[in-house]
Amino acid sequence: MNFKILIKTPLWDAFSDLGRRIFLPEGIFYWSGRAKKEAELNATIGSAYGYERDFIEGGTEEWLPCYLDAIKPYSNLKIDSLVPYASIGGVQAIREIWKKWIIKKSLYDILNEKDKLGLLEKYTTTPIVTQGVTNGIFLCCSLFLSPSEYIISPNKRWGNYDNIINKFLGANIKSFEFFVNQEINLQGMKDVILDVAKYQEKIIIILNFPNNPTGYTPKRAEIEKIVNTLKESQKQIKKPIIVLVDDAYEPYVYNEGEISRSLFYDLIEVQEDVIPIKLDGITKELLIYGGRVGFATFGLKPAWVNNDEELEVLKEELNNKLEGITRSTISNTNHFYQALTVQIFQDKGMDDIVKERDKVRRLLKSRYKKINEELSSLELPDISIDPNSGGFFLFINLNPNKIKASEFADHLLKKYKIGVIPIEKLNDNINGIRIAYASIDLEKISEFVTRIRQALKDF
Ligand SMILES: Cc1ncc(COP(=O)(O)O)c(C=O)c1O
Repeated sequence: MNFKILIKTPLWDAFSDLGRRIFLPEGIFYWSGRAKKEAELNATIGSAYGYERDFIEGGTEEWLPCYLDAIKPYSNLKIDSLVPYASIGGVQAIREIWKKWIIKKSLYDILNEKDKLGLLEKYTTTPIVTQGVTNGIFLCCSLFLSPSEYIISPNKRWGNYDNIINKFLGANIKSFEFFVNQEINLQGMKDVILDVAKYQEKIIIILNFPNNPTGYTPKRAEIEKIVNTLKESQKQIKKPIIVLVDDAYEPYVYNEGEISRSLFYDLIEVQEDVIPIKLDGITKELLIYGGRVGFATFGLKPAWVNNDEELEVLKEELNNKLEGITRSTISNTNHFYQALTVQIFQDKGMDDIVKERDKVRRLLKSRYKKINEELSSLELPDISIDPNSGGFFLFINLNPNKIKASEFADHLLKKYKIGVIPIEKLNDNINGIRIAYASIDLEKISEFVTRIRQALKDF
């Protein structure tokens, strides 16, 4: 493919060596696509097909992908949705539904915010399906980070970022202290942006709200501050800033009366080259963790193209790059769960899905309130709790001079039969425990906190 529009955009400047090199060659897909339309006898597809009667007892005359009768009792989805490969970029129907879902999640009001809706619809790519959010993170990090380059992230982050970026890609993470005085440390974020811009022609940053491990979720005013900091930084450094918006826990926000939504929506409105990429998925959003269906969606800028035709070409070129990486890593994502998701959206509709999920959100919110109330009554000098109002977790900081997080977690487990995740990265100024209250029953929370209090007294 000739990337004639993409090459003129700041995305190209921000690509890694792999990002520039990778593409999806026409190969098999070109020929099988043509054969579907033009051939009488099509021998391009690398999957077994036959008349159902020839491989299933009592089968029909239908020409189908060959399958084992043994799988039939477990799903009433059509065999065509179960057995064949999904397209590399994902089942087209789910890609289109998810784009509509993203638009719905923007919370834009059709009557009052038509312009913003139009902008979102037009300049957002059709999501590419990834193997869960993890694979979306991997995909984007590979696209933008060459070995030894830097990505920026708060010091408290999902540990798997380090695996992907450091250990797998050989790139580096430049951390900033997440909170100062219980607020997001935007000066710290800006300082590292300016610092990395001294030796890199692009800034890549990954942000995750509601956050793992802290549960931090920015309020409306904080979102504006984050956006302004990114805008100001971009104006100052005059280099593209790519923001990977990890929205794994997007719907789980518990602020009273706060309308909260992904940072993606505010960033797509920014005219400067602050370029958001939304990474989300059915895993937590629809509570189908093992379904492993995620999405990567790019926010493009109107200034990059001269007309609608160029915009469509740009989207195709970008899609080709992403499919190039998908083809050479996972090839494609589980067809069954994509089909199942399509089915849910078609049968239930988005509003009913949100309504059903709201029962879970309310359940988690009651635990969130309870555990925060209980913990705040502890009033112990050697601990502090990071600001939290969403997601599945909260984080208790421990005084490193008194208690090492891993020793504390070990003690909690051995003596009090309490399981938590210790995070002890003293160089990054972190020593504490992550509590996944999403998995503790409301009734058990008091007991849980009592045991933590007792354990703290042992040190
Ligand atoms: C912040 C964050 N991002 C991404 C993921 C991965 O999500 P998925 O299961 O969709 O790969 C997790 C899972 O724990 C997470 O905590």
